[in-house]
This record gives sequence, C-alpha cells and structure tokens, in this order.
Amino acid sequence: MKNTIAIILAAGRGTRMKSDTSKVLHGILGKPMISYVTGAISRAAVRDIVVVTGFGSDKVKDFFYGTGVKTVVQKRLLGSADAVGAAKREIRRYGDVLVVYGDTPLIKEDTIRKLIKKHKSSGASLTLLTAVLKDPAGYGRIIRDAGGRITRITEDNEAREYKKEVREINVGTCIFKSDDLLDSLKKIGCDNSKREYYLTDAVNILSARGKLVESVTMENLNEMIGVNSRIELAAAANVMKNRIMEELMASGVTIQDPVTTIIYPDVKIGRDTIIYPNTIIESGVRIGSGCHIGPFARLRVGTSIGDKTEIGNFVELVRTKIDASTKIKHHTYLGDAKIGRHVNIGAGTITANYDGRDKSKTFIGDSSFIGAGAILIAPVKIGKRALVGAGAVILRGTVVKNGVTVVGVPAKILRRRAGDRRRGDRR
Ligand code: UD1
Ligand code: CA
Repeated sequence: MKNTIAIILAAGRGTRMKSDTSKVLHGILGKPMISYVTGAISRAAVRDIVVVTGFGSDKVKDFFYGTGVKTVVQKRLLGSADAVGAAKREIRRYGDVLVVYGDTPLIKEDTIRKLIKKHKSSGASLTLLTAVLKDPAGYGRIIRDAGGRITRITEDNEAREYKKEVREINVGTCIFKSDDLLDSLKKIGCDNSKREYYLTDAVNILSARGKLVESVTMENLNEMIGVNSRIELAAAANVMKNRIMEELMASGVTIQDPVTTIIYPDVKIGRDTIIYPNTIIESGVRIGSGCHIGPFARLRVGTSIGDKTEIGNFVELVRTKIDASTKIKHHTYLGDAKIGRHVNIGAGTITANYDGRDKSKTFIGDSSFIGAGAILIAPVKIGKRALVGAGAVILRGTVVKNGVTVVGVPAKILRRRAGDRRRGDRR
C-alpha cells in the first residue's frame, strides 16, 4: 500500500464569486488559486494528488492535463463527504488521505508537513488542522470533552448558541487513515439543515468508536483565508504578494515600495538589486545582482537580465534576454530580443516584433548604441559597437555589421568605425 494521497475538494459552485468559471481557477498573481494548493502539497512531499471537480469541471481538467495531478468529477454536489467519496477508488490504494479545500490558496507546505507528522507520530485515525479565531462565525466548531479530546465538529448553521461561543474552528485541512475514512463515509448521513453529507461528521463517528482524533493548531492565521468572493480573492493575492516580496527582501533585494510593486511567484532577483515603485515582474523572470529596475517597469514572461543592468521607467520587456551592464532607461518596448552587454538603448526604442502573423527576433551586439526613438522591424541583427541614429527605422531582415553607423528612414549606412573596418567586418 502506498503512503499518502491528497484529495483537493474543488467541486463547489463558489456562488459568491458570481462567475461562470470554477472558483479555484480564478487567478492570484497570474496562476489559478488551486495551483498554490497543489504546489504546497507537492512541496510537502505528497506526490499523488486527486482534485475533485464539479462546477466548471472541464476547464479544471484541462488545467491539470499532463501535470500528473488527477481529476475526478463529483456528479451532484451533495456535500464535502460525498466529494471525498468521488475519489474512493483512488483512496483505497493508500494508507493515509490528506484532504485540503481548493479555495485555501495560502496554506503553506510547513503546515501540511506538521499535520502529517503529528498524524503519523500519534497514530490517530484523523488529525485536524484547527485555528482559534476571535470571530469564529461561519466555521465548523471543534467540540472537546472534559479531557480535551475532540469528539465532534458542529457546523455553524447547526450549532446551538452555547456552541457558537467555541472559538476553536475547523480549517478544513485534515488527514485520515484511509480505512477509517472509508468506514466513516459509509456512515455519514445528511440529516442536517442543508441536507448535505458533511465530511466533518466523520469526527463524531470515529470518536464514538473510541478512535483517536488529534489536532494541530495553526499559528499563522492568514494561511487559512478561504476565498469565497472577489474581495477575498484580492485579499489573498495581497498576502501572497507580500510573502513573495518579504522573501526577496530577506535575500538582499531592495523593494522601495512594496505597496505598488507586484512580483509574481518564481521570480529570481540577485542581491543589491533595487526595485523602484510601480514595477510589475511576471513569473519566471530572472534578474541579476546590482540592477536598478523601474519605477514603472513591466518585465514579462521569458525575460532575463544580467548583473548591473538598468531598466528605467515605462520599459516593457517580454521574452527578452539582456546581458550585464546594459542600460534601457526610458519608454522602450523590447519583445523577442537578445541584447548584449554594455549596450545603451535610447529613449523610445521599439522592436516591432509582430507583423500580424509571426513574431520575429531582434539581436543587438555588445557595446552598441541605439539612438532615441529607433524602430527595429524584426527580424533585425545589429552587430557589436554599432550605432543606430535617433529616429532610424531599420527594415525587416536588415543586418548591421560590427562598428557600422546607420541613420535615417529607412536606415542607411553612414560610416564604419576605423577599428572595425580594419578587422574586416568580423561579427
Ligand atoms: C467547511 C467545513 C467547516 C469548515 C469550513 C472552513 C464541512 C461540512 N464544513 O464549511 O467545518 O470550518 O469549511 O472553510 O466540510 N465541496 C465539494 N463538493 C460538495 C460540497 C463542497 O467539492 O458537494 C467542496 C467545496 O468546493 C469546498 C469544500 O468542499 O472547497 C468545503 O465546502 P463548503 O461548502 O465551502 O463548506 P463550508 O460551509 O465552508
Ligand atoms: Ca467554504
């Protein structure tokens, strides 16, 4: 029997999102919220993951296609116990079952690890993640006996007044021994106000049989923020964004104004780089050390930037690689470009990389100088130490050789550098 499987519950309609798309596909910093949940689970070393889908299941399936994460469909949304039941066939083959709700994107791998560790060391049938809240309204309450043992979870809408005062709540993340889970699923009914099969009824069933129900109490409360509306989506994105920036700052990056800066996950930035306000940096971007980025810079996917480079205001870069010590300081768009070191890109330089059908590449060699307002209609190749005059338009397919100066519209050769002439236009 294999070790642990994770079941992510994501079939719910997410009514309060007011959306035609499944709630768990709504984005946080460019990635669907559920991908943060699967990410934390995999980093906690649980490799086998099944997502239970329902509302909008086709798109959820498409998202996970080819990723190794399985999906199963819950045909009718009869409650969280029924949702887990939809993955029954998978569950049987494992010793333990971790259940996580798909709309809690801020859960951290450390918390999942802690829960699994406690579960294994205590030998419990079920271990719950709980939290103590000032305002527990809306959550299932953890009910303990005089000895402190957990005996049941009472859902908010089922709770009598005195139980509503209990401030310890069920976060939703939990881990079962799979036999005990499968046994409980057979017993859970829908005799409650919502006529739903509540997974949380397993607590009562197991504890009545004398089985041990354990808990881990969460310290960092913002990890449990559930996303039920677009307002909570923005709040969760804000927490995530600050986590990312705090990590970068701790590693030696200055972020002058974290409030107006947006940095997506999986961005690498070297030490002593300074990020100025209103800068947006997308997933996968790489920035070296000692760089100055922004204000108002937008670095999009596929961009990597060498050490000591300066990217100034209103510069947009996409799928572009820039070597060390290059300066691109004002109002520039570079797409699908490869720029050497010690290059100076003048204000207002534009690569016209898209002709309405295809995207083409632009190359600019080391130590070249591109004058203000130049337009490079890709594909374009500019050698080393070349000079492009202000306002020049370089037509598609042009190759400007090493050390050559071009000017005008369309750009024509004005002169060659003496040194490069002697070297015979080597490229
Ligand atoms: C649930 C818990 C509650 C806990 C709270 C934390 C139950 C019965 N209650 O309440 O104890 O404090 O979360 O946020 O679980 N789902 C399905 N199929 C269904 C029904 C639900 O996949 O048929 C999924 C939802 O997409 C969601 C999760 O299960 O991810 C929880 O369901 P939801 O209806 O949101 O439960 P809550 O009332 O929030
Ligand atoms: Ca919920």
